[in-house]
Amino acid sequence: MSLQRSFTAHVFIGVSLDGFIARPDGDLDWLTERGAAADGDLGYQEFADGVDTIVMGRVTYEKLLGFGPDAWHYDGKHVTVLSTRLPADADPRITVHRSLEDLVEALDARGSKSVYADGGQVVQSFLRAGLIDDLTLTTVPVLIGQGFRLFGDLDADIPLTLRSVADMGGGIVQSVYSVAR
Ligand SMILES: NC(=O)c1ccc[n+]([C@@H]2O[C@H](COP(=O)([O-])OP(=O)(O)OC[C@H]3O[C@@H](n4cnc5c(N)ncnc54)[C@H](OP(=O)(O)O)[C@@H]3O)[C@@H](O)[C@H]2O)c1
Repeated sequence: MSLQRSFTAHVFIGVSLDGFIARPDGDLDWLTERGAAADGDLGYQEFADGVDTIVMGRVTYEKLLGFGPDAWHYDGKHVTVLSTRLPADADPRITVHRSLEDLVEALDARGSKSVYADGGQVVQSFLRAGLIDDLTLTTVPVLIGQGFRLFGDLDADIPLTLRSVADMGGGIVQSVYSVAR
């Protein structure tokens, strides 16, 4: 895929030390009920304020819907969902795209500037396509053994540059990496 695009793309995600973003049933208690992570937003709001577009995978979108209307904090942002099966008219708040190529073309056409890529498979798709600029990983000191993986197979290594590391309390470490080009 061409690296020419109108936008930069960013990851902000909570991950267990063994690399999972949710348990197999989608449960996030290991992340949300743990010390500082439960009390503060760990920089999420500042990050979210800096993006104009959200791209999430269908599974993350459906999980979010399950939290009820109060969990939708994306008003004023362009929200897209990648899915091969979600009906195009499923939700007036979102635009559905069937492939990464279609999505990138559409974001370029509308002039998106800063994209938040969310969901394990979405992050993996973006990484494989060379579309991620940086990743903010909030690593929780727990091994959960199984679940949805943050990272997956790659065709080639993706070198990263560590930009910062912060001790967030409660054993939680927030690391910011740039993707080296
Ligand atoms: N820890 C955190 O901070 C955090 C953050 C976000 C999400 N989560 C959790 O992670 C879990 C979901 O993760 P997930 O790995 O299933 O990923 P996901 O990316 O949210 O959803 C995967 C689905 O998105 C669609 N998709 C993704 N990439 C695509 C592509 N390139 N082209 C077309 N469709 C694409 C597919 O939908 P179809 O099957 O419809 O084709 C795929 O099955 C949820 O439990 C969520 O709550 C945790």
